[in-house]
Amino acid sequence: MPKPQSRSLAAVVLAAGQGKRLKSDLPKVLHPVCGRPALWHVLKLACVARPSAIVVVVGVGADEVRAAIGSWDVEPSPVFVEQREQLGTGHAVLLAEKAAGRVRDVLTANGDLDPVREEDIRALLSAHRRSRNVATILTTILDEPGGYGRVIRDGDRLVRIAEHADATTAERRIHEIATNWVAFRREDLFEALPLVGRENRQGEYYLNDVYPILTEKGGQVAALRADTGGVMGFNSRAGLAKVERVLRSRINDEHMSRGVTIVDPAQTYIDQGVRIGRDTVVRPQTHLEGETRIGARCSIGPSSRLVDTVVGDGADVSFSVVKGARIGRGATVGPFAHIRPGTVMDDGSKAGSFVEIKASKIGKGSKVPHLSYVGDANVGSGANLGAGTVTVNYDGYHKHRTRIGDGARVGSDSMLVAPLTIGKGAVTGAGSTITRDVPAGALAVERSEQKIVRGYRKRKDAQAAGAKAKGSDAASESRSSKSRSSRSMSPGSSKKE
Ligand code: UD1
Ligand code: CA
Repeated sequence: MPKPQSRSLAAVVLAAGQGKRLKSDLPKVLHPVCGRPALWHVLKLACVARPSAIVVVVGVGADEVRAAIGSWDVEPSPVFVEQREQLGTGHAVLLAEKAAGRVRDVLTANGDLDPVREEDIRALLSAHRRSRNVATILTTILDEPGGYGRVIRDGDRLVRIAEHADATTAERRIHEIATNWVAFRREDLFEALPLVGRENRQGEYYLNDVYPILTEKGGQVAALRADTGGVMGFNSRAGLAKVERVLRSRINDEHMSRGVTIVDPAQTYIDQGVRIGRDTVVRPQTHLEGETRIGARCSIGPSSRLVDTVVGDGADVSFSVVKGARIGRGATVGPFAHIRPGTVMDDGSKAGSFVEIKASKIGKGSKVPHLSYVGDANVGSGANLGAGTVTVNYDGYHKHRTRIGDGARVGSDSMLVAPLTIGKGAVTGAGSTITRDVPAGALAVERSEQKIVRGYRKRKDAQAAGAKAKGSDAASESRSSKSRSSRSMSPGSSKKE
C-alpha cells in the first residue's frame, strides 16, 4: 500500500538570466508574448499545479521583475530569491530551497517560457504523483533542436540530458529535448543538487545534471512528452516570434471553439485575456489588444486595431483604430475611423470614414458620418454632424467642451469653436464658424452674403478666346521664323517645310 500522499507543492521559477542574445534593455522574462510578459504566462501555467508557495529566482533586472510580478495579482504571492551571479539553472534552484518550504514536491520552470499547455502540467503532476519517481520531466520533439538539452532515454526512463554545448555529434542528432518543467520530490532534489558540479563547456551548474545523481541513488526519473507547438523558451528575438506564433494560434483556437468565426487565424492577433462573444466574425489583419471585450454578433475588421476597448453586441468596426473607448450595441465604426481614449459611442451611433473622435460622448443613434474631428464633446441622441464638422476644442492653451443637444443638425463644414452649446434640435448652416451658443430649435449661420454676377461666364470665355487668338498669331509667326533658321530633324518640322 503506498502511504498517503500529500499534494503540497512549491513552484520554483528561474528568472535570473540576462538573455544576452535578445540585445534588449528589458529583462528577457518580461518580453511580452501575446500582450503579457513571458513570465506572466509561466506563472499562469505554474498555478495549474496549485502551489502552496511560488518562488521566483531573480537576478538581472531583479527590481523590474519584482515590480512587474507585484502588479499581476498572483496567488499565492510569490517569494523572491536573489541570485547575484548567474552560475546556472542548478545553482538557481538550490537557492530556492528555504523559500520552497517543507513541501512534498517542487515544480521547476524556466522563466523564458517553455510553452507547454495546461493539460501537460496536469499530466506531469498526475504521472509524478501516481509513480515513485523522484523526478518527472516534460520533454518535446523539435524539428530544429539546436541549442537545447537532448534527452537520452532508456524506454520511459530518463538516463541524462546532454546540453547542446556538451553533446556529441551523435547526441546532437536527437530531436527530443528537455523543458525545465520538472516535478521533483523535494527532499531528493535538495539532497542531490549540492552534488552537481560545473565541469562542462559553459562552466555552469546545470539543473539537468541532477538526474544521473538521482538515478545513481536508486531513484527513478521519468520523461513525459508535452506539446510545445514545436518551439521552446526563447533565447533570441527570432525565438520570441516563434513562441508568440504558437501562443497566438492557441488563443485563436480557443475563441473559435467558443463560437467565434476567425476568417484567417494566421492573420489575426488577439492578446491573452481578450474576450469575444459568440457569432462575432473577426476578419483578417485585426489586432485585439489589452483589456478588450467584444460582444456577440459583431463584425470586427478587416485591418483594425482595438486596444482596451469594449464593444457591444452587433457592432461593426472596419479598417479602424480604436483605443480606450466604448462602442455601443449596433454602433458602426469606419471604414477609416480613429477613435481615441475616453470616447463613448452609444448604441446605434456611427463614426464613418475619416472621422477622429477623442474624449467625447456620441449619443444614441447620433451620426458623425464623414471627415470630422470631434474632441471633448458631448453629443446628445439622434444628432447629425455634417461632413467636415470640426469641434475647435483647443485655443492654444486650454481644451474646451462642446455640447450638442439631442436631434441637432450641424451643417457640413461647421467649425464649432468651444466652449459652445448647441441646443436641442438646433441647426447650423454649412460652412459656418459658430462661436456663440445656439438656442434650442434655432438656426445659426455665419458666412458673408453670396454675390451674384450675371453673365460672368460668357464674358470671361469671350475674353479668353480673344486673348488666345492674338496669342496664337504671334506664336505661329515666331514658330515659322524659328523653323527656317533651325535645322530641325523632327518629322513634324520636315513635314511643314
Ligand atoms: C535550458 C536547459 C535546457 C533546456 C532549455 C529549455 C539548463 C542547463 N538547460 O537551456 O536543457 O532544453 O532550458 O528551454 O537548464 N536562469 C537563472 N539563473 C541562471 C541561469 C539561468 O535564473 O544562473 C534562468 C534564465 O533566466 C531562464 C532559465 O533559467 O529563464 C533557463 O536558462 P537559459 O540560459 O535560457 O537556459 P537554456 O540554455 O535555454
Ligand atoms: Ca532559454
